[in-house]
Amino acid sequence: MMRWKRKDLLTLEELSKEEIEFILETAKSFKEVSTRDVKKVPTLRGKTIVNLFFEPSTRTRTSFELAAKRLSADVLDFSIGGSSVSKGESPVDTARNIEAMKVDCFIVRHSVAGVPKLIAKEVKTAVINAGDDSHEHPTQGLLDLFTIREKKGKIKGLKIAIIGDIRHSRVARSNIWGLTKLGASVILCGPPTLIPLGMEKMGAEVTFSLKEAIKKSDILYFLRVQRERQKETFFPSIQEYVHLYGMDLESLKEGKKDLLIMHPGPINRGIEIKSEVAESTSSLILEQVTNGIAVRMAVLYLLVGKRSKND
Ligand code: CP
Repeated sequence: MMRWKRKDLLTLEELSKEEIEFILETAKSFKEVSTRDVKKVPTLRGKTIVNLFFEPSTRTRTSFELAAKRLSADVLDFSIGGSSVSKGESPVDTARNIEAMKVDCFIVRHSVAGVPKLIAKEVKTAVINAGDDSHEHPTQGLLDLFTIREKKGKIKGLKIAIIGDIRHSRVARSNIWGLTKLGASVILCGPPTLIPLGMEKMGAEVTFSLKEAIKKSDILYFLRVQRERQKETFFPSIQEYVHLYGMDLESLKEGKKDLLIMHPGPINRGIEIKSEVAESTSSLILEQVTNGIAVRMAVLYLLVGKRSKND
């Protein structure tokens, strides 16, 4: 049995296949807690988890809060509005001051890549990266791996196409690391301007044809077109993007019979994916959200509950 040693969870790039599998196995045992009438176990009683979100979030923030509460931890939900961040206090100083109040874990989301790592270096408290710019979103990657394994019974040997705005996607990067480490093949698909050169070095195949990705894949993983991160125009118009890369029911029929659809949310309905696909029986989108709680319970348990202070 593996022993968890890491203080922080910052990327899937740095985790070994064994560490990823260990988190997924641990999450399996937590999934059942959320189906109970009383959705609570005493695992992290007396611990304090701090949500330190410098960027907006619906799923990740609430998922971590519910995961912590279901483990009986106390949760401090730090809001930027009304904090001294507006007076110029740095993220590291913010974290160090909250650490001085004796807390056990920071969940950090920031619009600059590397900020969670910077904080992790400066504090003794555990740090979980909840998304840093276009770099990584490791717990999203883990919940996606968990969902794929639950649905398909395996990850090794599967072909997963990640489609859309790869350039600005931390979710794509975490998934590429996680999927390839666990033996899946990854196809990246989208307009050439949204797939940075050199992505093949991460072990992925690249295609600009959605038709080809649909035909070859076991799972199509759609990404949101991140218009707020696009400082220049990467495609002529939304209409053209929808025409070339938008997913509808007709296109779904061109794939394998058991082709599955995933998306990390939030969805731009009618852009990267039509509602009829998002709501179809092939869609795992809400199951991903459900599984996020079990995966985050596992990560909190391993980092806060399991690791001894002396490790
Ligand atoms: N999937 C995801 O990270 O969603 P949020 O931005 O709502 O947290």
